Amino acid sequence: MGRLIVVSNRVSMPTPDGAQGGLAVALQAALRESGGLWFGWSGREVDKFTGSVSFEEISGVRSAVVDLEPQDVEEYYNGFANRTLWPLFHYRIDLAKYNRSFGSGYERVNKRFAEPLHVMIEPGDTVWINDYHLIPIASQLREHGIRNKIGFFLHTPWPPTRLLVSLPYHERLVRTMFDYDVLGFQTAEWLESFLHYCQNELGGTIDGEYVSFEGKTLRAVVCPIGIDFENFLQASKTDAAQALSERVKVSLRQLSMIVGVDRLDYSKGLEERLNSYEHYLQKHPESHRAVVLIQVAPPSRGEVEHYQHVRDHLNAMSGRINGAFAEVDWTPIRYVNRGYNRDELTALYRAARVGLVTPLRDGMNLVAKEYVAAQDPDDPGVLVLSRFAGAAAQMQEALLVNPYAPEEVADALHKALTMPLTERKQRHAALLEGVKNEDVHWWREKFVRIIEETDCRQGVAAQ
Ligand code: ADP
Ligand code: F6P
Repeated sequence: MGRLIVVSNRVSMPTPDGAQGGLAVALQAALRESGGLWFGWSGREVDKFTGSVSFEEISGVRSAVVDLEPQDVEEYYNGFANRTLWPLFHYRIDLAKYNRSFGSGYERVNKRFAEPLHVMIEPGDTVWINDYHLIPIASQLREHGIRNKIGFFLHTPWPPTRLLVSLPYHERLVRTMFDYDVLGFQTAEWLESFLHYCQNELGGTIDGEYVSFEGKTLRAVVCPIGIDFENFLQASKTDAAQALSERVKVSLRQLSMIVGVDRLDYSKGLEERLNSYEHYLQKHPESHRAVVLIQVAPPSRGEVEHYQHVRDHLNAMSGRINGAFAEVDWTPIRYVNRGYNRDELTALYRAARVGLVTPLRDGMNLVAKEYVAAQDPDDPGVLVLSRFAGAAAQMQEALLVNPYAPEEVADALHKALTMPLTERKQRHAALLEGVKNEDVHWWREKFVRIIEETDCRQGVAAQ
């Protein structure tokens, strides 16, 4: 049995004090048991790229990271990944920038990652690449002679063909995906879009889960990511969670709280969300001095212009709405630009009567699942969820909304805030079952098993 080698742009390691991201928790056991490795960018910049790898071991999990040059970061991370692919993959071709240097920087950095990575891969290892930053890396690894099974999981949506073709050299990018054995998507919708592209643009053939093109075959599957349910429950019992819970209770007094928790990203539909909340306040004067929206949104990808614009716009909108509706003893929106640790988040979620999760497009959206996990089953809050989040495919018992339609979201808010306990409990119990059963461990085990059992490369000297 070989090791598991996980590769992603950011390496998320468990920390000694136990604070960990969901993905880190999910992969921790597998990496520790297999003596595996998590490889990626250190997040640091150096004058000259050397390819030298720094190793670190925390709680039995090994990471290996490399530093990048400023030009790499600009063209690969801020450029092709976040100015081109991110908007395109979230259906925002109006925001996507197509600059040739971004594409060459993206390919260069993928090559640079593959250089030290291929040396670390041993026969029998299973390699698992994550996300849109690293699509072409399998091709680079194959060029280095790597014959191991390689799987790729896309955490974002895959866009419809008619949008994807707006990307110059789209075919060049997709061709590299045929060097993977397995591709994993969050939902059937994104998988269908990928298959549509392969059939209609590439002229590939599809046979069940298998896609073939120019003599290469890959297996494409749906495998939705979940949260670390058990760990999340534990987090809600810590001192930090209890302390914040008390502070929130005191500050809320009799107010019903609606919560939004997101990276500050245009794909999260935050402007549309505030607009919908304003509609709700206008339509329901009885909500004044009775309801508060707490929106937590730490800045993200601040070097990219559209993130700066959305930040400025949200500052202005929250100020305007508060100015228009606030009373001396009530502010309708508390807009917080910082992150909270997971323990504290559980307290925020649990205190909220409504979890408002309205991305315009989202690969999955884990906040929706975290909100459900954090509720008191005897008196749960209601999830209002965008039908355009990948999570909606698994969370049909939420109040599903079109985030572009402010009246519809406002009506859903009203319904959520006035929903009888019996209906709240029924909806929550059904949602909870899915969140608990299809958790992050289920996801990781399923995806790794699929990679291990798939043999698309019989013709090649498979190891
Ligand atoms: P994305 O991967 O696009 O950021 P997800 O909703 O899938 O969106 O995952 C976001 C993760 O980051 C969740 O685990 C969530 O708890 C965490 N997160 C999001 N916003 C915050 C915040 N303001 N403070 C702390 N954690 C956050
Ligand atoms: O889930 C999508 C994703 O891009 C992850 O790959 C990434 O770690 C996360 O969002 C946060 O984005 P960033 O790493 O750019 O801060």
